[in-house]
Amino acid sequence: MQRFLRPLAVLTTALLLACRPQDTAPVPLKDLAPFPVGASISPTLLKNNAAYRNVLSTEFSSISVENAQKWGTIHPEQTRFNFTDAETIVDWARANGKRVHGHTLLWHSYNPAWLTNFQGDSTAWENLMKTHIHTVVTHFKGRVASWDVVNEAFSDAGTLRNVEAKPEDGSVWRQHLGPDYIARAFRYAHEADPAALLFFNEFGQESNPAKLKATVDLAADFKRRGVPIHGLGLQFHLGVSQSENGLSEALRQTAAAGLLVHISELDILVSDWKKDPTLQYTDALQNRQSAKYKFIAQTYRLLVPKAQQHGITTWNVGDSDSWITQGLKYTDWPLLFDANYERKKAYFGFAEGLKN
Ligand code: XIL
Repeated sequence: MQRFLRPLAVLTTALLLACRPQDTAPVPLKDLAPFPVGASISPTLLKNNAAYRNVLSTEFSSISVENAQKWGTIHPEQTRFNFTDAETIVDWARANGKRVHGHTLLWHSYNPAWLTNFQGDSTAWENLMKTHIHTVVTHFKGRVASWDVVNEAFSDAGTLRNVEAKPEDGSVWRQHLGPDYIARAFRYAHEADPAALLFFNEFGQESNPAKLKATVDLAADFKRRGVPIHGLGLQFHLGVSQSENGLSEALRQTAAAGLLVHISELDILVSDWKKDPTLQYTDALQNRQSAKYKFIAQTYRLLVPKAQQHGITTWNVGDSDSWITQGLKYTDWPLLFDANYERKKAYFGFAEGLKN
């Protein structure tokens, strides 16, 4: 009896081991997806963390520049640009065959004090904007494939951010340059690199119909006027309870604008944007999050025509380097990889959605 049972036990154990998800190397996301799969990245982790680098090179085909190309980093004084951090990222990406999505030329946030406090008439502000865009886009010409030219220009009402109730929500660009600054920013970027794909990037389209309409209208208006715009970015910073209908509508209407569509900053907060230090990452929450990642991958493939698929990018790589847990200090696990860059249930859900 023993003679038969022992080999059977060995075989069963071997089979069980072989089937553990962590041990079988699944087909990487970048090879499963019919479009680029990206993550936003930091130069510090890239230099110092081998597991981070490894997961990036194995799983992703595109990278977005998290903070290194924002004004606060790249243009710290009026007469000085600092390309060091961005170069670290762009060099690594190119050496490893990754597409680079640039982020971002104009935003109301992350601006250095010298810019916010700049005194000058509209001509001086226009020159500031133009010089910045020309300098940065020219610097990366041929190395950065696409740019978020303007980020988050709309308020919740679906009108352009201007002077807002909270001063930090206001936009110096709209205040000093009038409503058509966005179109001019796109023209300046196009002058500097005619081959770069230019995006307008926004958040909240999935839960705010006014904002969704505002972005789609902007695209239509720019197309009509011949303003060089090539794509729309939907950030998709989502709570796990986000309605599927809202996601589908946002993708459907954005795709109908006829431009490239980028899910540009995906993460899914199991906390649903509530700060609760006692929150536990239960199996139930992991499963709900995984199902939502799957839904997004599937729905993107279904509703965005192939020729318009710029790709899906997550904002950061693992739960411990997420802006949600690090910067905003939520107790949460929003990404595809855990703190040790191991694949999570969310990863396997997303992978399922990419292929089925
Ligand atoms: C965030 C970064 O991840 C943080 O490190 C930084 O402190 C603030 O900005 N929408 C965007 C991104 O377009 O640029 C933001 O990135 C996240 C929200």
